Amino acid sequence: MNGKVHNLSLQHSVLNQFMSEIRDTDIQLDRLRFRRNLERVGEIIAYEISKTLRYEIRPVTTPLGVCDCHVLPEQPVLATILRAGLPLHQGLLNVFDQAENSFISAYRVHHNDADAFEVEVEYLASPGIEGKTVILCDPMLATGSSMVLAYKALLERGRPQQIHVATVIASEQGINFVQQNMPDETTVWAAAIDNKLTPRAYIVPGLGDAGDLAYGDKTWL
Ligand code: URA
Repeated sequence: MNGKVHNLSLQHSVLNQFMSEIRDTDIQLDRLRFRRNLERVGEIIAYEISKTLRYEIRPVTTPLGVCDCHVLPEQPVLATILRAGLPLHQGLLNVFDQAENSFISAYRVHHNDADAFEVEVEYLASPGIEGKTVILCDPMLATGSSMVLAYKALLERGRPQQIHVATVIASEQGINFVQQNMPDETTVWAAAIDNKLTPRAYIVPGLGDAGDLAYGDKTWL
């Protein structure tokens, strides 16, 4: 197995309460709460990732003296797959509040309404990432193909030193695909790992369509 995988729901914490609300079809009807819960998961994942980063000591002047504090010399770059990644991204950004940000659009194209689909990547807005730590987030790691394509698109801006994949629900298949197609120094952080995919590559039991639940239906006809 390449890299590490952290399933954060294995240790019981308030994260599991947030996950139960995110999955619950009744509570999902409240879009504001759904988005805020994704954001809260992002905040928790950011805190967990922060424990792996490098800190330096900086003397900080308080009203009563000087304290040697451990601070981050630089913050990770936060990269997000549009549109479903936005609330999770906001949660990461609430914690890494001085971070630079990358946005990538990736969407599924189903031909003739069949189950099979291709993922199209169209848009990239990103700073240089050469030698940096990057957190790439998408709430649902289903097949893993959007994540891998987004990572490849980001390589146009340099090769990161360390990559963290942050996700709310991952499938085992998605994790395997990421491990096979992303560098060894990739660490996956999932708030939960489910073990099934539907023929249309939705995670079971999962939560449904994260983008639609956060922002509404995409159909316009
Ligand atoms: N994207 C989603 O929003 N949900 C899934 O289950 C899989 C991909």
